[in-house]
Amino acid sequence: MLAAVTGPAPPIDRAALEAVLLPLDRATPLPARAYVDPGVFAVELDRIWDRSWRCVGREDDVIAPGAWLRAPLTQAGVLVVRGEDLAIRAFHDVCPHRGAPLAVGDAGRATSLRCPYHGWQFDLAGRLRGEGAAPLCAGRSRADFALAPVRVEAAHGLLFACLSADAPPIEAAIAGVPARIVRTSPRHTRLARRVEYVVAANWKLVVANFQESCHFPGVHPALEAITPTSRASSCLGDGAWLGGTMELEDGAETVSTTARLDGRPRLVGTSDEDRRTIFDALLFPGLLISVQPDYLLTYRLDPVDVARTRVVADLALHPAALRPGEPCPAAIADFWDRANAEDRAIVERQQLGVASGAFVPRAYSAVEDGVHAFEQRVARALIEAAEGAGKGAS
Ligand code: FES
Ligand SMILES: [Fe+2]
Repeated sequence: MLAAVTGPAPPIDRAALEAVLLPLDRATPLPARAYVDPGVFAVELDRIWDRSWRCVGREDDVIAPGAWLRAPLTQAGVLVVRGEDLAIRAFHDVCPHRGAPLAVGDAGRATSLRCPYHGWQFDLAGRLRGEGAAPLCAGRSRADFALAPVRVEAAHGLLFACLSADAPPIEAAIAGVPARIVRTSPRHTRLARRVEYVVAANWKLVVANFQESCHFPGVHPALEAITPTSRASSCLGDGAWLGGTMELEDGAETVSTTARLDGRPRLVGTSDEDRRTIFDALLFPGLLISVQPDYLLTYRLDPVDVARTRVVADLALHPAALRPGEPCPAAIADFWDRANAEDRAIVERQQLGVASGAFVPRAYSAVEDGVHAFEQRVARALIEAAEGAGKGAS
């Protein structure tokens, strides 16, 4: 007899996953089906994404009482709400009456949350306050119909939410925050620009592309001219963080179309050593942060399906660099519009090749230690899923 399993078993054989765990020079990368098989994607959602603290925005996205945003952690989404008491709470965007989502749009400000279907109304703490045209039966208690809570925390000026009650607290989950990110915290920046787009590629291809710079000469000639791949290095930790540094070319002050600061202040907390170094970090599985001398880039990834990944790209500056309402400096925005488009185009083409049926990964190159470290984390999660599924069968 089969007992309930703890999760779907990954449809990649164990030997292929263990081959990823070997040292760089002997490892074999994740097989092609990791990027095309909906079964693998389902396991990744269960074992990786739904058990991780995921960045859902900036703390100042919900700065005012009643400000809310929708985070795409489920199909219906999760509402992150700043209460009248200024506490941040999160709820599944699912009405406890008959399941309709409450919020219309992706963000807003409200004094209460009202379901558009039958008019049930909730306060900003998720408590049922009124039932509109669908009153509760006598003897039923409103207390039994609160919105289902989701864990949410603010850290370093960013908001994180987690669907799992079993995941460790945020402090443990993001332990080992790189010193450069602590110094130049997003908390000390002002959002200058937010761009959202969907990349037609598996999320792991998008992350892996961020984990190496050896594509710069071929894909980003303008970026290679300012931060050459020959001056890049990786910092590989044991926790959820991976990272690396890029050195500015002599004469360059920052990464932009002018390569100059053009009068902008460097980020709060930038040390003398930071002035010539770009620091890139991945918080596994899907938050990419790039600390430049005078601005901060964050890319939040949300997997849509096995072959599509939603990206929210934020660009933030020193608060004194930008008056409210002033547009992001074009020299930075234009540079990254082009670089992001170049990355998007190459990984979308890569997805076609990987999905062709003809691609058999054989080895990492000598400079892909960051990609290897990332794929090792994925492989370990898939192995744990197989072990969990195996233990559930009897
Ligand atoms: S489903 Fe929300 S009030 Fe009926
Ligand atoms: Fe790139």
